[in-house]
Amino acid sequence: MGIDLEAFFEHTKNTDLEQFHPQLRQALQQHFEQKSHGRSGEWDTALNSMPQLDTASFSFNDHSVTILKPDTLKLDQSSYVQQLKAFMPWRKGPWNLLGVEIETEWHSDWKWQRIIPHISSLEGRQVLDIGTGNGYFLYRMLGAGASLALGIDPTRIFLYQFHAAQRLLPPNGAHLLPLRSEHLPAFGRFDTVFCLGVLYHRRSPIDHIQELMSYLRPGGELVLETLVVPGDIDTILVPPKRYAKMSNVWFLPSAKALENMLQKLGLKDVRTVDINQTTTKEQRATDWMTFHSLADFLDPHNPSLSAEGHPAPLRATIVATKA
Ligand SMILES: C[S@@+](CC[C@H](N)C(=O)[O-])C[C@H]1O[C@@H](n2cnc3c(N)ncnc32)[C@H](O)[C@@H]1O
Repeated sequence: MGIDLEAFFEHTKNTDLEQFHPQLRQALQQHFEQKSHGRSGEWDTALNSMPQLDTASFSFNDHSVTILKPDTLKLDQSSYVQQLKAFMPWRKGPWNLLGVEIETEWHSDWKWQRIIPHISSLEGRQVLDIGTGNGYFLYRMLGAGASLALGIDPTRIFLYQFHAAQRLLPPNGAHLLPLRSEHLPAFGRFDTVFCLGVLYHRRSPIDHIQELMSYLRPGGELVLETLVVPGDIDTILVPPKRYAKMSNVWFLPSAKALENMLQKLGLKDVRTVDINQTTTKEQRATDWMTFHSLADFLDPHNPSLSAEGHPAPLRATIVATKA
């Protein structure tokens, strides 16, 4: 494993997160011992051959996470494209790295635009993003003023995508640790906890929401986005087999049923701020993600249904406060 994760520990030294360093180091060590990835060596080599800067100009407030090419940098654009493509599939974005536009499977900027008007200002806040993917949202969080944006995600390729960007930037508050939420300590410190697109992958949703609550300080804000189904407080779909061809989908509540769960767990000011039908414009195959995408996961004769005949993907964002 060639990626250096020390920047997070440096950044949070002498802060209220330092007390959790030993637990996090142990969790990281276990993660790497148990889950060596067959392609890590190849990815390390690819990453190490990529440009490294610390003076680039950047913009985190536009639809792309953009890192500009300094005039002084001589770059063979087509080789750089090939280097970045070593980390395909690129799912979350878009990105513009040194002039290369990475058109990702998802318009994650659309998701961000749906969420940001409804949450407390991130200015100066310590933010945790569970299942962050490749860290696209971490930079958007910094752009919105967060002082620390810690993301966790166990999928190794996303860590490499994050570092392809991070190695172009000066030291900053975005950090990605390759961990699963169940391996985190109950921090009780974060001002905002995001969990976008993860709940339906968890077998035990109530336990997962309790985990999320354990990371927040009292008065902190939970921003939960997940797949839902149309229906009332009693509606929950547990897909018997696959859902939209995904084998790891366990639990699709209605927004009302989810609100009820959050309230029952003691969260305050629980509100659904957005419900959105995912379209094949927002999630689609591109040159940077060439596998099947949403259009292939729907009923070809009736796009309001998934391929298995369930309601097609609908997403809700729910915001709540820890008492
Ligand atoms: C559908 S993607 C969502 C990515 C991003 N948050 C978004 O909304 O676009 C789900 C992500 O959750 C991660 N994930 C799955 N189980 C997890 C767990 N137990 N803890 C943390 N991340 C998890 C996966 O690796 C994947 O990147």
